[in-house]
Amino acid sequence: MEMGLPAESALEPFAPLPREPASDARIALGKYLFFDSRLSGNVSLSCASCHQPDKAFTDGRALSKGYPSTQYFRNTPMLLNTVYQSRLYWDGRMDGNDMPTLIRDHITEAHFMSMDGRLMIERLKQVPEYVEMFNNAFGGSPSFGSVLNAITAYVQSLNSPATAYDKYQAGDVQALSADAQAGLALFEGKANCARCHSRPLFSDQEFYNNGVAANPAMLDDPERHVTFRRFFRTLGAPNYRNLREDVGLYALTIQEEDRSKFRTPSLREVGRTAPYMHNGSLETLEEVVNFYNQGGGPDQTAGLQPLGLSDEEMKQLVAFLESLSSEPIQVVTPMLPDYGLVALGAGEELQAAAPPAPAPSPTPAAAPVAASKAVVAVVNKGTCNACHVIPGVPGAVGIVGPDLSNISAEAGERILGYTAEQYIRESIINPNVFTAPKCPFGLACVPGAMPANLAQTLSEDEINTIVNYLLTLTSGGQ
Ligand code: HEC
Ligand code: HEC
Ligand code: HEC
Repeated sequence: MEMGLPAESALEPFAPLPREPASDARIALGKYLFFDSRLSGNVSLSCASCHQPDKAFTDGRALSKGYPSTQYFRNTPMLLNTVYQSRLYWDGRMDGNDMPTLIRDHITEAHFMSMDGRLMIERLKQVPEYVEMFNNAFGGSPSFGSVLNAITAYVQSLNSPATAYDKYQAGDVQALSADAQAGLALFEGKANCARCHSRPLFSDQEFYNNGVAANPAMLDDPERHVTFRRFFRTLGAPNYRNLREDVGLYALTIQEEDRSKFRTPSLREVGRTAPYMHNGSLETLEEVVNFYNQGGGPDQTAGLQPLGLSDEEMKQLVAFLESLSSEPIQVVTPMLPDYGLVALGAGEELQAAAPPAPAPSPTPAAAPVAASKAVVAVVNKGTCNACHVIPGVPGAVGIVGPDLSNISAEAGERILGYTAEQYIRESIINPNVFTAPKCPFGLACVPGAMPANLAQTLSEDEINTIVNYLLTLTSGGQ
């Protein structure tokens, strides 16, 4: 595995780093983990699923999708320059000096990655390359703490280089267009944005209620509403059952004056992070500037006033905001190492036995053969893992449909005249035509529960891949 410093780790950030960067080995390991969906409970999400490098580490959605079947009720923030932030999350409930705790929250929370720490470490220990990388970076085998520290190292290495604005400040008057220069004057003068969006991060790290309108999807979508309620109940917000709005900082302090206050976001890279605000309710920078020009929302408590900006001035302000973004950097997605299955708990022994170059490790006879990456990819794409137990595929522990541990042996006897292969293939491309004799829930399987569109979702090759894999399962799960 290549271990150099990734291209996106800015060597010359726009301002001196507030702390020493971590070692290259930790940053590189953190990058692998950032892209690895083995860190989520059902192996469907990595950090990069929501924080996508080509969108300045946002997801481009108004509201985050959250973990499958949860839906989150806030916008996904970008990850550049978090090392400079004193509070993290929109409501500031995480300490900027304690990124590992934020990452633990992300990995274990039901609405983000819904992962059990012990299971995660067991999965990582099954990957010889990881055992080696952890050893190099931390001098030991994978542990929860070292996972958190490695990801912290990577995230805190994601910083903006100097932008057009910084070059202008450094004396290069050509760097900003005339419009952007006029916008800068408005930003610091007539529009008074700099009161809260102060340099160099363009955030004072304080909290305000600007009266941003609610996003109706927060309450209309039942899954999202459930997450919203559970979240405020967990934080102990008074009267959480009747909340109709995201109360932000108030949920933490229970001070009436903090109602619906959110952290002033940094405006660096803001041209690349649409849609905007804690709930993604404003789609463009023009809409944001227009919002401020009208004095914010009706319920604001931030002391915003109508600004009386002309159309021309609003355009200039937008031009200035655009100048705060850097050129996107091509982020290379790492090739993730495959499992090399070892007996449970035996990661350290594997490490001692592993040759320096990545090599397949012996598979104990008792364990199911690990599925190839191609199989895991099909299972994720078809979400088979959400409903079926499929040995060898991490996280495939669903109980809505039949346990597939012994499907190859059983399928041949299901329907007269169908081979095991035909039965399995038909079950996927033409689901619910047969009723499986045993499902874990109730006496019979729920007809119609198996998604009917798998034949369209999956290509022919992908269907062959999963059929061939299922044909190897005769182990009864052991
Ligand atoms: C399901 C989508 C999702 C996944 C997966 C996810 N995040 Fe996030 N992340 C979010 C959302 C949404 C927030 C904002 C939460 C809030 O404000 O309540 C956030 C906030 C953050 C922040 C705070 C940024 C700031 O400026 O306040 C950091 C840092 C972060 N995520 C890093 C990570 C890392 C590292 C991982 C992988 C371990 C990860 N995220 C996985 C959705 C996700
Ligand atoms: C009183 C402090 C304050 C002032 C003044 C202010 N902002 Fe903000 N700004 C905030 C806060 C707080 C948020 C987040 C609000 C939310 O999500 O509900 C925000 C959000 C934004 C966002 C969205 C960023 C993102 O990543 O979603 C932009 C863009 C922005 N402001 C630009 C401006 C401009 C331009 C001005 C001047 C016209 C301005 N702000 C004036 C505090 C302020
Ligand atoms: C939403 C839940 C769900 C998803 C997703 C799902 N299945 Fe199923 N599956 C079921 C249910 C329920 C049955 C039993 C249906 C019946 O017999 O009428 C079933 C039946 C099967 C059977 C026949 C089992 C038997 O014992 O007869 C196979 C094989 C199968 N599914 C494979 C897959 C594969 C492969 C995928 C992913 C490409 C997948 N399923 C995705 C719920 C699901």
